[in-house]
Amino acid sequence: MVPPADNSPDAAPTRAAGPDEAPDIWPLTAKDMDGELHVGSVPMTALAQACGTPLYVVDEADFRERARQWRESGADRVHYASKAFLCPEMVRWVGEERLHLDVCSVGELELAVAAGFDPAHIVLHGNNKLPAELSAAVAHGVGVVVVDCAEEIDRLAGYAADAGRVQDVYLRIAPGVAADTHDYMATGSDDVKFGFPVNGGFAERAVLTVSGIPSLRLTGIHSHLGSQILDPSGIRRAASRVAAFVRMLAERHSVRIHELDLGGGAGIAYVPGQQRLAPAEFVAALRAGVAEELDPASVRLAVEPGRSLIGTAGVTLYEVGVVKQGLERRFVSIDGGMSDALRPALYQASYTAWTANRRLTGRPVHSLVVGRHCESGDIVVPDIALPDDLAVGDLLAVPATGAYHHVMASNYNFQPRPAVVAVRDGQARLLVRRETPADLLLRDGAGAAIDLSGDLR
Ligand code: LLP
Repeated sequence: MVPPADNSPDAAPTRAAGPDEAPDIWPLTAKDMDGELHVGSVPMTALAQACGTPLYVVDEADFRERARQWRESGADRVHYASKAFLCPEMVRWVGEERLHLDVCSVGELELAVAAGFDPAHIVLHGNNKLPAELSAAVAHGVGVVVVDCAEEIDRLAGYAADAGRVQDVYLRIAPGVAADTHDYMATGSDDVKFGFPVNGGFAERAVLTVSGIPSLRLTGIHSHLGSQILDPSGIRRAASRVAAFVRMLAERHSVRIHELDLGGGAGIAYVPGQQRLAPAEFVAALRAGVAEELDPASVRLAVEPGRSLIGTAGVTLYEVGVVKQGLERRFVSIDGGMSDALRPALYQASYTAWTANRRLTGRPVHSLVVGRHCESGDIVVPDIALPDDLAVGDLLAVPATGAYHHVMASNYNFQPRPAVVAVRDGQARLLVRRETPADLLLRDGAGAAIDLSGDLR
């Protein structure tokens, strides 16, 4: 379970831990060179100087190594869950690493296709796919559409029939298992908006509906228990429930399923003391659950990791602008905040931090790393012990920010979003440029009159 960050002054603060002390939290190539942080053999001070802060840094070698680990995890197919982080260069890395891609919007789909990704290797998700998404999926020849609700079955069947195609689909089911994670990241119980619950017969009826539609071919069953899962026991239980459902389909209805896509959710370490759920361990738990109910050779197993592939590759750099000693804690204000790091505010997620520009030697002080937004919940690193010689102008690096940071960034307080750069072998390359105030003003409607019979969509 993700340890909830307790923001009361009495909470034991997280340790500040650099790459030497807590290598599991940092990119594989991160090195503390006498107080100066290097990632991909690039000094972070020079990178911050060249690109400004806040800055998202991605260690390409880290991503590629995790991709290898997933390829060798024992799964038959690995889809990268692109919602974790996506840009055209990332799409190319995913293709080069021979991973498939999971997208959950027409935006992600169009980006992937425009970057040259083979649509046949794309799986489309979403609990309310828009007509434009379903028709784009059919038009592009997306490999699999994961159907999530009754309305979608009808709509997709229509688009496929119109195009004269038979669309492969997976049916997403809710296995009725509660995930051991934050409530907002749990998706496997009966009472969630995703998929057809097995309990109550919803999933069974949906299978029969899809099986009777000539323009759809049911090739697999999908289930995703939740995200940031560190304990594999729930994953095994959920896999076993899915497999029992598949066995029931064969026995009761002679519907044979040969593919299981059991989602993502393998957790990573965010703070010292946490241990990631390794790809092989994640897949072993799934396989063990499946084997409780089915002949393992009768089904191919697909997985959809997002965070586990890109989370630890990312580090965010910030400059310290204000250090204020409060009555009980010290507030370290940085030049970003919840607009580029939403997870602490949304999920009470914990993080650690480390100075990237010099070695600090002071006494640890109970601190809060806070952003510049007009909210008390604008906290980037909840309670942390940071040395008392941390000062204005220092460069602070927050690790494990590769997943769900850039993609969940906002323009709150008219804040332009940071750039994303990749580092590898001493070279830095721009993946996404920094937003400018002019970019934000491009959307200004200037009060222009709206023609109600026109189309501004
Ligand atoms: N497959 C499906 C169907 C999903 O919904 C998700 C995540 C994944 C795969 C990938 O999960 P991962 O391996 O990255 O845990 N924004 C949140 C987490 C919500 C993720 C939603 N779906 C966060 O910041 O932690």
